[in-house]
Amino acid sequence: MFSPDILQKFQSNETPFYYYDLELLNNTLKACKTASDKYDFHVHYAFKANFNEEVLKAINAIGFGADCVSGNEVKKAIEVGFAPDKIVFAGVGKSDKEINEALDSNIFCFNVESIQELGIINELAVKKGKKAKIALRINPNVDAYTHHYITTGLEENKFGINQWELPTCAEALKHLPNLEFIGIHFHVGSQITNLDVFKSLCVKVNEIHNWFEERGFRLRILNVGGGLGVDYHHPDEKSIVDFEAYFKIFDQFIQRKAGQEVHFELGRALVAQCGSLISRVLYVKNGLKKNFVILDAGMTELMRPMLYQAYHKMENITQKAGETKIIKYDVVGPICESTDCFGKEVEFPESHRGDLIAIRTAGAYGEVMASGYNLRDRAKSVYNLKLS
Ligand code: LLP
Repeated sequence: MFSPDILQKFQSNETPFYYYDLELLNNTLKACKTASDKYDFHVHYAFKANFNEEVLKAINAIGFGADCVSGNEVKKAIEVGFAPDKIVFAGVGKSDKEINEALDSNIFCFNVESIQELGIINELAVKKGKKAKIALRINPNVDAYTHHYITTGLEENKFGINQWELPTCAEALKHLPNLEFIGIHFHVGSQITNLDVFKSLCVKVNEIHNWFEERGFRLRILNVGGGLGVDYHHPDEKSIVDFEAYFKIFDQFIQRKAGQEVHFELGRALVAQCGSLISRVLYVKNGLKKNFVILDAGMTELMRPMLYQAYHKMENITQKAGETKIIKYDVVGPICESTDCFGKEVEFPESHRGDLIAIRTAGAYGEVMASGYNLRDRAKSVYNLKLS
């Protein structure tokens, strides 16, 4: 839902562009903060979902930490003002350069994804005379019941250390003096809407936690990753997810020992609903069997529908619903690929060249996954309020 003054603002902007409702973002962050503080949980924002500077500033201001998956994300986090001791660095393929830079920045923790990586981080830390804090990313083999392209916690996925490797890991850690083993880390997938998945995750976390305790390891951190899904079908009615219900599950099912911290790495749930991709209709093609609306935005600006067959609600915000007839269109982009289609048989008010189309719930994994294919310009960003 866009207010008349925002619609006015849209008219004067070159399309396509990303629109961020920073007021909604702030309200979402506050809801998350209130719910997580209640249980003394620590939230790290998953940078990969959106590293737009205004978005990051808002997230830093609320006091969340940062979950980064590349050296550049770590650098960006520090630039924006995130405290290094609140930065975690994950990723299945960290390069030596990235590890060295993260060591220099004294980040909070490396989430380590393989036994070989443990050895490399230790070796690089030795050279610097430093001790690196690490958490083991363990593949819990829990099904996230989400799109198979964004499931990460199954044994068939490339992420994390498998449970059968844990004895070797525990043994290796005894001989890696420049590592400080502080915790265990999990992430089962993204866009998880069935909260029972998180209950199953908690059961696994407890099991693995106990396994380490029995072997004399005292863990400070239990990091359960992210993955909380949003409602792509009802961006206005369900603009803020039920953080309270989400965190409550972990409070009920995770067995924390005194002094232990539970960490989260939320991305999508914090930023998805505050972003929309605003595009203009370039052409309308009416055929015998199909009608096409051709937009000036395509897979270069928002790749999710093409990559994961993901649904994003689309609205013609120029034509008033109820005042014109409804027509089914295939809504497509200008890119030279047949797959460049946002939705088939989408019901719209009859559309015309110049109409503005909002593609909703595009704040997560939208702008960050944009590409320059076809030598396209980068879409700009527009905000309802600026933070600085
Ligand atoms: N932690 C780890 C280790 C992750 O791999 C991810 C996401 C997150 C946290 C944040 O997950 P979230 O809370 O945002 O679900 N491009 C895909 C999503 C890829 C997610 C990758 N990992 C999409 O557009 O749906």
